[in-house]
Amino acid sequence: MKVLLIGSGGREHALAWKLAQSPTLTRLYAAPGNPGIAEHAEILALDVADHAAVIAACRANGITFVVVGPEGPLVAGLADDLTAAGIGVFGPSKAAARLEGSKGFTKALCDEAGMPTAAYRRFTSAGPSREYVRAQGAPIVVKADGLAAGKGVTVAATINEAIAAIDACFAGVHGAEVVVEEFLAGEEASFFALTDGVNVVPLTTAQDHKRVGDGDTGPNTGGMGAYSPAPIMTEALIARTMDTIVKPTVAAMARRGTPFRGVLYAGLMLTAEGPKLIEYNVRFGDPETQAMMLRLDGDLLALLVATAEGRLAGAAPRWSSDAALTVVMAARGYPGAYAKGGVISGIDTANAMPGVKVFQAGTAMAGGTLVAAGGRVLNVTARGATIAEAQARAYAAVEAIDWADGFFRSDIGKRALA
Ligand code: AMP
Ligand code: GLY
Repeated sequence: MKVLLIGSGGREHALAWKLAQSPTLTRLYAAPGNPGIAEHAEILALDVADHAAVIAACRANGITFVVVGPEGPLVAGLADDLTAAGIGVFGPSKAAARLEGSKGFTKALCDEAGMPTAAYRRFTSAGPSREYVRAQGAPIVVKADGLAAGKGVTVAATINEAIAAIDACFAGVHGAEVVVEEFLAGEEASFFALTDGVNVVPLTTAQDHKRVGDGDTGPNTGGMGAYSPAPIMTEALIARTMDTIVKPTVAAMARRGTPFRGVLYAGLMLTAEGPKLIEYNVRFGDPETQAMMLRLDGDLLALLVATAEGRLAGAAPRWSSDAALTVVMAARGYPGAYAKGGVISGIDTANAMPGVKVFQAGTAMAGGTLVAAGGRVLNVTARGATIAEAQARAYAAVEAIDWADGFFRSDIGKRALA
């Protein structure tokens, strides 16, 4: 099978690395790709926002299956257009991608299906939302509706902070609808499941580190590191999450006539009352996938094709009992303005270390040299018998990387080891 992978980040490098090991893969293509992905795939010069061009490239190259990495193309309806063209696709339809694309949509679905989530109100103007925040008090959470790359959420410790976030939303920074919701106290965990619209297969668990600084300080980012599995997600909590959150979601989406096919990534808060849904993503996590792919035994492509074709009944993905952990190396200044173009070396040395695999995210080739080209640049990932071993291996590998403009958190995995 010839496969096209859409995306250009560390998540897609990890997916490309795993897809390349599939016995049923004959050739892997990628767009836009990056130099790490190019080690496993032929890069197609394609504007992935131009769906007709993506379809034409599939036809020209005999590609019969497309794996969509990021949420943007899904929310834009790429899966619908590929399906209409008779090309197989891993990733939900535009209507189903609203689970990530619209926080208001997901909140309404939680009400409809009785899923546990934070109490909330939706607002389309600043005045009533300010009043609501004053009435509720702090801490309280303000979320811009729509995709904001993980940056549209303010966990406000004070009423003034919440009001500033509301004013920023309605000033046109993120759009014109906000969700104001109850602050949930607890530990966060990520849970992943594949669904073909009817059958639901649990994958595994992970935890990521969203704040930029050690000790979970500073602004939110796309994710500074992750590990899998999340020890806090016991078998009992996984079963409860499947029964009270994931299965009801899949059933509600099917009932609405918009079945969800793909990977459901549930962001959970483990509260004293049990797991509650913070948010859904409609694609694999970044950087969780980098750790998860090191633990997946067996054929990723077969699982993704079974998901797309409605054949997940009885599927049982196998995971290594090993843990894996990834440390994101980011460009100094991220998530604000950062420098590009710094030379990176040492990846081969790191990859030769036990259990280590370096995935590339924001990198580019400049005249035969690997350089930084984004905010999150490298995902230094390692497998080990325990999280502690994976962590020690990943940080040893970070030391082998030479990149003057890079920084990283030094406490990835700390919560799991506490
Ligand atoms: P989201 O983009 O909805 O995942 O939110 C980003 C981050 O904000 C989450 O990972 C949480 O750390 C935090 N957060 C979101 N909603 C809540 C909530 N209701 N209570 C506490 N923290 C939250
Ligand atoms: N790790 C956060 C995300 O993928 O959204």
